[in-house]
Amino acid sequence: MNLSFLTRVAAAGAAFFLLAAGTSHAQDAEETTDPYDKPYIVEDGKVDQGTYNGYRRYHSSCHVCHGPDGLGGSFAPSLVESLKFIDYDKFAETIANGKAEKGSSGQRVMPSFGTDQNVMLYINDIYGYLKARSDGKIDRGRPERIKK
Ligand code: HEC
Repeated sequence: MNLSFLTRVAAAGAAFFLLAAGTSHAQDAEETTDPYDKPYIVEDGKVDQGTYNGYRRYHSSCHVCHGPDGLGGSFAPSLVESLKFIDYDKFAETIANGKAEKGSSGQRVMPSFGTDQNVMLYINDIYGYLKARSDGKIDRGRPERIKK
């Protein structure tokens, strides 16, 4: 929440952030997403390209631990639940740096994806997908894309 702008840029991947900033024009006719104000677009149960991409990225990099459709597994918590409580900055920071919990049942570790471009470049898409799931806007399974 209180991360400085620079930290946020570092966490989200500088290249992507600048790209995103450079392509958002207020007068654009097309709707655009923004991780803070509008992380996803859902129309009639169908999703924008970024959210669809987030679905794919999530299921290639995260679901082995966090379960299909973000529902959680025996190893890692449900991100559908987590995103009701953590904001975008916390989400991005956790993925960039990882997180380790020490408990009575041993140690479960969230690995750092800070150097994994397949994740860091698409962190906004992954967030959008999981946020849409968390908000109950899309069901389990592969979402359909909005036709342009
Ligand atoms: C190797 C297994 C593993 C993979 C792969 C993995 N995670 Fe995690 N993740 C964990 C574990 C375990 C935790 C819980 C760590 C803790 O609470 O200390 C966690 C925690 C998190 C949290 C914090 C949840 C909370 O409520 O605080 C987020 C956000 C998260 N992971 C996102 C992701 C995303 C996005 C991906 C894919 C890019 C991913 N994780 C891939 C194991 C994994």
